[in-house]
Amino acid sequence: MAVDGPAAAGKTTASLRLARAFGMSYLESGRAYRVLAYEALRNNINPTDQAAMLALCAAVGGRSRAELLGLNRYTSGELRTTEVGRVVSAVAKIAELRTRVTNTLRAWAAGNRRSIVEGRDIGTVVFPSAALKFYLTASVETRAARRVAQEESGTYQEVLADVLRRDQADLTRAASPLRQAPDAILIDTTTLTVDQVVDRMSHRCRDVGLTVP
Ligand code: CDP
Ligand code: CDP
Repeated sequence: MAVDGPAAAGKTTASLRLARAFGMSYLESGRAYRVLAYEALRNNINPTDQAAMLALCAAVGGRSRAELLGLNRYTSGELRTTEVGRVVSAVAKIAELRTRVTNTLRAWAAGNRRSIVEGRDIGTVVFPSAALKFYLTASVETRAARRVAQEESGTYQEVLADVLRRDQADLTRAASPLRQAPDAILIDTTTLTVDQVVDRMSHRCRDVGLTVP
């Protein structure tokens, strides 16, 4: 299953609840781009230096798939700093790097029969034939307010500016921009509670024959 959408649309919250309810594995693909942004900062690599970023990706991915996917070693605190947030869009622009992350996501999914993968290009590029695709969105003001409540760092205006900047970068990049797949189910979560979002998604899961184990 693919879940895409802009920052703070509620992808992680809803996907985790669905994964638990239906006994599916869950992967947050944004962690891979954040791992690379974090390592670039730590190793003083300019995130716009494509050759250096590809070498970094090969080094991290060469250690293990789990490491590149941010499944071990890195805490969410490390990957969700303001600094990482500032450079992750530049990292995510690099087409060849995206190909490597995509291949790693596919390799992970091959070993996880029932899975939910969340991100920006999951239903469009990574798993175009996913059995079920969702595109979650919400107004930018609502999304910024959610992030402020969640992270307790930065003022509303600062967080709003960051969300707008990342939306713009994700929507306008040449390589795998953020798009709703034609066959994705759109859910605008602006005025919905988490329970309501999860309910709608669960109904669609049952429609395609997914059962609670
Ligand atoms: O949680 P949040 O929505 O704030 O971000 P994330 O999912 O951790 O993703 C961080 C950044 O990675 C996004 O702003 C995108 O630029 C990039 N990303 C991407 O390009 N493709 C994906 N499949 C996932 C994330
Ligand atoms: O993964 P993504 O960046 O799309 O969003 P998230 O990390 O799940 O953050 C969404 C935040 O908004 C969480 O604190 C949720 O509790 C809250 N929220 C939501 O996810 N869905 C709603 N319908 C309402 C609030």
